[in-house]
Amino acid sequence: MAGSYSLTTAIDYVNSSPHLGHAYEKVLADFFARHQRSLEANVLFLTGVDEHGQKVQQSAQREGIEPQAFCDEMSARFASLHKSLGVSSSKFVRTTNAGHKVVVREWLQKLHDKGEIFFQEHEGFYSVRQEQFVTEKDKVDGQWPEIFGEVIETKEPNYYFRLEPYRARLLQHLADHPEFIVPGFRRNELLGALEKPLDDLCISRPKSRLTWGIPLPFDENYVTYVWFDALVNYYSFATVDGVLRWPPDLQIIGKDILIPAHGVYWPIMLMALDLPLPKHLLVHGFWTNSGAKISKSNAKSLVDPVPYVEKFGPDALRFFVLREMVLGQDADFSDERFETRYQSDLGKKLGNLVQRTLSMIGRYREGRVPLYDGFHLAPADDVLRSDDVVEDYRRAVDQFAPHLALQAVWELVQRANQYVEETAPFKLAKDPAQAKRLDVVLAHLAETIRRLSVLIQAALPFTAEKIRAQFQLPAGPVNLSEAKFGNSLRDHVIGQPVILFPPLDEKTP
Ligand code: MSP
Repeated sequence: MAGSYSLTTAIDYVNSSPHLGHAYEKVLADFFARHQRSLEANVLFLTGVDEHGQKVQQSAQREGIEPQAFCDEMSARFASLHKSLGVSSSKFVRTTNAGHKVVVREWLQKLHDKGEIFFQEHEGFYSVRQEQFVTEKDKVDGQWPEIFGEVIETKEPNYYFRLEPYRARLLQHLADHPEFIVPGFRRNELLGALEKPLDDLCISRPKSRLTWGIPLPFDENYVTYVWFDALVNYYSFATVDGVLRWPPDLQIIGKDILIPAHGVYWPIMLMALDLPLPKHLLVHGFWTNSGAKISKSNAKSLVDPVPYVEKFGPDALRFFVLREMVLGQDADFSDERFETRYQSDLGKKLGNLVQRTLSMIGRYREGRVPLYDGFHLAPADDVLRSDDVVEDYRRAVDQFAPHLALQAVWELVQRANQYVEETAPFKLAKDPAQAKRLDVVLAHLAETIRRLSVLIQAALPFTAEKIRAQFQLPAGPVNLSEAKFGNSLRDHVIGQPVILFPPLDEKTP
């Protein structure tokens, strides 16, 4: 019996529009969610937006609207991108949600009651951009690094959460659970960061400076630090039919928010509340745009995913990001690379294979997948009858390597195209003595495409459905075990071919 599976992504700041990096992370999580569903797991998949904090307050002020109205408008853009990309989340998280606010305040109250939170006057430096206090230790070559933006000197009393008492326990957890942080080199970075004693975490912001946040339950003159608020989403939304599902199996984040947010604050918050930690924290790399860093502060480098989805379709973008990025490493986006993947892997290889198989079955067998007998099998058929691809696919997904999973699937696509060349059904069709052999070839091609519709459903859900519709197969999702070679299509009537990935020259620019 398959069990349940919970996964989350980082929740995106709504202070600017979604870009390729955001789209990638959500597609990645969606890939794992759909994969788990194909194993019949009951999936809870959380993703959404992070709506509080100074940056959102400032952006709303600049636009001259109330922060809530600003959030409503921006959150809708993220939600609409998710929809267009087929991100099949169970809930769209928003941190302005009333239930979430209740849980944040409960957590703060519990930690306060346990004596984990204390009040203290603090004199020091504050990074406006990062919304956090910084110390001399954070300077690089005597200068504040650029990521901090403007750094100001402040003196104000605030509430602090003690982290240091949990450092040894966190180190022990990392030692006992080497699979906690994936990939391993990120785990090593975290171990390095945990070598030094941990500073207390300032979890409050005075309302005089910031009003757009969740008021502290024990002091209404303060709102909650945005990271403390945001991290709680993983728990506050983790209910299915009102029942808590904890801990998550998989939490997906980018490399910039492992240390300290998800690698230090988050596990320590959970430990302080006696809650189990997530099983895996999967840390992906960053997309660059033709070599340039994609960042909100550099408008020219931003890649807006929307025009790509509109022009090439959602699966083209999904395929590109999943196939191109080695999970954990950085990867580069460029129109050229994107178009190459589209034209070659999708159009020429997968699209053509589907199209020619459908049209040959239409032409030579009146749209019926032929029956065949074992006497006319040939060694060439073995490459399409092998179930190795299913094993390779599963292994790659289990190892968090979607690019390898897709590589394995495209090897089958490639083999099927070669099979067409080698067996030459168009020649067989001309020779009545070869009719039985042609039955075998056409049936094997049809079966391969049926299997492909199962193997691509997590990565290319729209295409998988289109193929199933053209083959007049019941709509998915389908159990992954159905990717094994079989004979279910015998005498099955198929539909008309419809081009899956139109060539670029036929598309409007
Ligand atoms: N709001 C916080 C996360 C809170 S989670 C409790 C945040 N938001 S963000 O909008 O800046 O980033 C959201 C996610 O997008 C992060 O996981 C981040 O790593 C990821 N990416 C942002 N830019 C990226 C790229 N250029 N490439 C890939 N992912 C990137 O941090």
